[in-house]
Amino acid sequence: MSRTFYITTPIYYVNDVPHIGHAYTTLAADVLSRYRKLQGYDVHFLTGTDEHGQKVEKAANTAGETPLELADRVVKRFQALWEKLDISYTDFIRTTQERHKQGVSHLFEKVMKQGDIYLGEYEDWYCTPCETFWTETQLIDFKCPDCNRPTEKLKEESYFFRMSKYQEQLLAHIEANPDFIQPKSRRNEIIAFVREGLRDLSVSRTSFTWGIPVPGNDRHIIYVWFDALANYITALGYPDQSGDFGKYWPVDVHLIGKDILRFHAVYWPTFLMAAGLPLPKKVFAHGWWTVEGQKMSKSLQNVVEPNMLIDRYGVDAVRYFLLREVPFGLDGDFSHAALVNRINSDLANDLGNLLNRSTAMINKYFDGIVQKPEQLEPIDLAHLKKTSAMVDQVETCLTELAFSKALQAIWETISAGNKYIDETAPWALAKEPAKVERLGTVLYCLLESQRIVHTLLSAFMPGTAAKALAWLGTDGAQTDAALQWGGLVPGTKIIKAEPLFPRIEDKPEL
Ligand code: MSP
Repeated sequence: MSRTFYITTPIYYVNDVPHIGHAYTTLAADVLSRYRKLQGYDVHFLTGTDEHGQKVEKAANTAGETPLELADRVVKRFQALWEKLDISYTDFIRTTQERHKQGVSHLFEKVMKQGDIYLGEYEDWYCTPCETFWTETQLIDFKCPDCNRPTEKLKEESYFFRMSKYQEQLLAHIEANPDFIQPKSRRNEIIAFVREGLRDLSVSRTSFTWGIPVPGNDRHIIYVWFDALANYITALGYPDQSGDFGKYWPVDVHLIGKDILRFHAVYWPTFLMAAGLPLPKKVFAHGWWTVEGQKMSKSLQNVVEPNMLIDRYGVDAVRYFLLREVPFGLDGDFSHAALVNRINSDLANDLGNLLNRSTAMINKYFDGIVQKPEQLEPIDLAHLKKTSAMVDQVETCLTELAFSKALQAIWETISAGNKYIDETAPWALAKEPAKVERLGTVLYCLLESQRIVHTLLSAFMPGTAAKALAWLGTDGAQTDAALQWGGLVPGTKIIKAEPLFPRIEDKPEL
């Protein structure tokens, strides 16, 4: 039986159209999925949309639509973007689907029956945009501590989840599993938050109707975060444990942005504990993108539209840039100048030139036919070692979700390739008939290293890597074995590469 790998993105609210922040999480999940698939894992990659709740209801009212009409319209925007961004998800869940609604009702009822959800009364400060209640002491000038917008005092009958009961159990779990919440700084924040004390959580609302009713009391709508978080298991068929749920749960990693960590690292695990289900293996919170130094916002009109970026720069350049520019756990700044710079220096210059030079030489000197490598000299062995070390480094980095470091390791091998050409000077070897075998060996090492580079890059830049691998005479079906030195078969015909990434001369402003 093959090893499984289950990865998720947050499900996106349909009251907003997709922007670069959404694309970022989904892209990261795609890269990990593709990489694990390459290694032979049975990968399940889930994304989707969060369609219930007051926020969506309000947006629909404003747009003069029903919430479902709004959702049907916006969900297409997400799906079209994922296609354009080359996202290889296995399942797409919408919280308005029957499979989800049934799973959520079941989960709620199960926790209620065992006594961890009870009916009570609520009076607190509510922030509608964040769908979050705050105590008075948490407010800053009576404004929401997260978004700084005004809050209102609400009193309502509500169902409560006994989150306080799970405080110690959750702390013990976090402490016993250092990798559970990543990166470390975020883990520390959560530990501090839990230590301050968990209050029981209001898990139903009576102030609006767009959502899943509480089983047995449909005056109450299940709190949108209880509803949304459950998507990670309802998509697997929960409560039916026999199919995908049995196969893929617990999830290997929930990828999320830092703003929704508390929901994933405190609420969700305690819901699962109450339901007697295993906890996620890892929750990783990435940083946020600003744009040209400013917060991205509709009012500033600086929201970066991924479709526009892809049209202008190409999908793989965008994929590369987003994961290379900023370490995954940290905040980063998007600028067109930085993107153009990466395209010109890393992609056109380093990656593209190396492939052009190598495939041109094998065509010039051997009609494109890969020669059998003879005795390897120290300089060849060094290049081989560098390439194999890269494969190990990428494995370590991607296990830690250090995408940028993984790409850095790949680019070190690419630079080493360019240097290897300069040092072995194939054009000089070509002038001496006695050195023909040596020339064949050098070109073998050069091409073989790039075959492995592009095999790894197929996770990051699938379209580009597929082209490069085809020119290198390797078919698209990649497996773990493709990462071993020696896969390039003598006699293979190499095609002279076309430029992978043309240089961009202008530096357009937003
Ligand atoms: N619906 C909830 C998630 C429920 S998951 C059970 C939600 N949706 S969202 O559409 O508002 O946000 C989804 C993701 O986009 C979050 O992980 C958030 O961090 C991410 N981003 C939104 N803006 C972002 C940036 N400017 N930069 C990076 N990521 C950002 O929250």
